[in-house]
Amino acid sequence: MQKYDKIYARDESYFGHTSKQFTTLFSNFDFDSGTILDLGAGQGRDAIFLARRGYNVIAVDSSRVGLDQLQERVDAENLTIEVVHADALGYTPPQELDAIVADRFFHELPNNARIKILQRVLRHLRIGGYMLIADEKSVLPNLRDTLKKEKFEFLRDKNDILFTYKP
Ligand SMILES: C[S@@+](CC[C@H](N)C(=O)[O-])C[C@H]1O[C@@H](n2cnc3c(N)ncnc32)[C@H](O)[C@@H]1O
Repeated sequence: MQKYDKIYARDESYFGHTSKQFTTLFSNFDFDSGTILDLGAGQGRDAIFLARRGYNVIAVDSSRVGLDQLQERVDAENLTIEVVHADALGYTPPQELDAIVADRFFHELPNNARIKILQRVLRHLRIGGYMLIADEKSVLPNLRDTLKKEKFEFLRDKNDILFTYKP
């Protein structure tokens, strides 16, 4: 059993609700419907929040336990979330995306894997789409550099948040 399988098996809402910061930033999305990729979605707190707002969400995670818990909530509420059990390193989004969120996901991976995943998913983001990252400060510099190299515009770069869009 993986680390997060054990954690999620013990607590069905381990990370609690979507953070206040995220709910505020989500309200800056200037589209009402569309597809959002939640990378390392875990038990799906952000995916659920977004689906309740009317978005289609693709929730990718490597924890079977977390995703089974999420699937139960998806079925109970009939939410528009596609639950995908995958290693993000080998995952390619099946379609163009309107936004990507990664809430405390990248620190789980070694640096070269972070950059590889970020570069791959960014290719699937539409022009004008958003990339929102919250993570430990120590992992942000390399992610920030990658976004800058890809010419992303920064709407917020403060504390543990990078909120950017693809011009
Ligand atoms: C700190 S948790 C955050 C979960 C969720 N984003 C949230 O904020 O509630 C990190 C998540 O990343 C997932 N994860 C770690 N490595 C992964 C990988 N290589 N591919 C997919 N998911 C991964 C873990 O299973 C875990 O659910």
